[in-house]
Amino acid sequence: MRKYHKKNECRICSSQDLKLILDLGKQPLANAFIKKENLQKYENKFPLRLYLCKNCFLLQLLDIVDKEFLFKEYLYLTSASKPILNHFQKYASEIYNEFLKEIKKPFVIEIGSNDGSLLKEFKKLGTDVLGIEPAKNIAKMANDIGIPTKSNFLNQNIIKKNSLEKKASIVVANNVFGHIEDLKEFMKCIKLLLKNKGIFVFEVPYLIDLIQKLEFDTVYHEHLSYFSLRPLMKLMNEFNLEIFDVKKQKVHGGTIRVFVAEKDNFEITKDLKELIKYEEKFGIYKIKTYEKFSDNVKQLRSELQDKLSKFKKEGKIIFGYGAPAKGNVLLNYCKIGTQFLDYILDTTPLKHGLYTPGMHIQVRSDITHQELSSQQIALLLAWNYEEEIIKKENEFMKKGGKFLVPIPIPRLI
Ligand code: TMP
Repeated sequence: MRKYHKKNECRICSSQDLKLILDLGKQPLANAFIKKENLQKYENKFPLRLYLCKNCFLLQLLDIVDKEFLFKEYLYLTSASKPILNHFQKYASEIYNEFLKEIKKPFVIEIGSNDGSLLKEFKKLGTDVLGIEPAKNIAKMANDIGIPTKSNFLNQNIIKKNSLEKKASIVVANNVFGHIEDLKEFMKCIKLLLKNKGIFVFEVPYLIDLIQKLEFDTVYHEHLSYFSLRPLMKLMNEFNLEIFDVKKQKVHGGTIRVFVAEKDNFEITKDLKELIKYEEKFGIYKIKTYEKFSDNVKQLRSELQDKLSKFKKEGKIIFGYGAPAKGNVLLNYCKIGTQFLDYILDTTPLKHGLYTPGMHIQVRSDITHQELSSQQIALLLAWNYEEEIIKKENEFMKKGGKFLVPIPIPRLI
């Protein structure tokens, strides 16, 4: 079975004028946690490199791991992160109030619907829902809680085969668009699923946040594209669609919610016009911005290694806090293994007892974490939940425990 291939042209504009920005080395899949009995077995590793298209400025991976291999069994559960559940609750009610309230029988389709957490909120508001989620184990969880979910990768054949004839007022896709290799096929599907005047709403991590806050660890094999507005607008234009609104969100280290419809159906909002201007001013369409980013990432790696070595010499006990996929990128790139971290705590039951890909650190349940002492330092791998976690762990901090936040500059709190 083929597992990996290398592309040589841009995913949006097909230009071959591509510049290597950051090489994160050969890495295992960021979500491929390992069972104890498999620790000695061969681990697949693939190049993890960020390229910039000098024509349309899409930042992207060109080393592509086959999606069947990537998403077959998936351990990321939306419902494991309370802040995401809160975000989804608000998300559904905002979309409902703005676009669905007046519609008689609104119907929402979500692509990459995970365990059904967002659709559950739409359903509560009286909307018919359908999820499409490739990971079989997770699609089953959604079906089990009453969210109808087809377990498939989205493509035109699947739409035909499943007779998905009922058109949606809204198609949503969160943290999915960046995972798609064939964006053009994906957009054709969106058009097939949407009603006349329907709206495609998607959330993607925002490239400016990634660059500004040095979120290099959000780069992993699943994430093929890192978006700013210009390449997205170019793509939509090819399908006679346009972005008419954009709203910034806090989740996942900085996200944009993008609203797309057939051209001239909605007025272009002030928020969108302002963000377009901001991107120009920030320099997101200048190569030197990316060169600086790459230098900063390398510097962060050495600072983090120095800090951890110093703590270890001082006899501190260091553990990881949160075992998100991005944590594995950071650990592998910075070569942080069991020489530094004794274990990692995480709230996701599916991850408990498993070992992290590459660095092989054991993941434990946070509930069993009782041995708090003033000698402990928690490397905050789930840095996107800093606020919530620090609030939750005030006991730990009161007893003298400290958090080491790795990005944008390693700092102790
Ligand atoms: P995410 O950043 O991809 O949402 O993943 C966050 C990971 O961190 C996920 O595995 C759950 C975990 N987590 C904790 O262990 N404790 C927490 O308090 C929160 C909010 C998340």
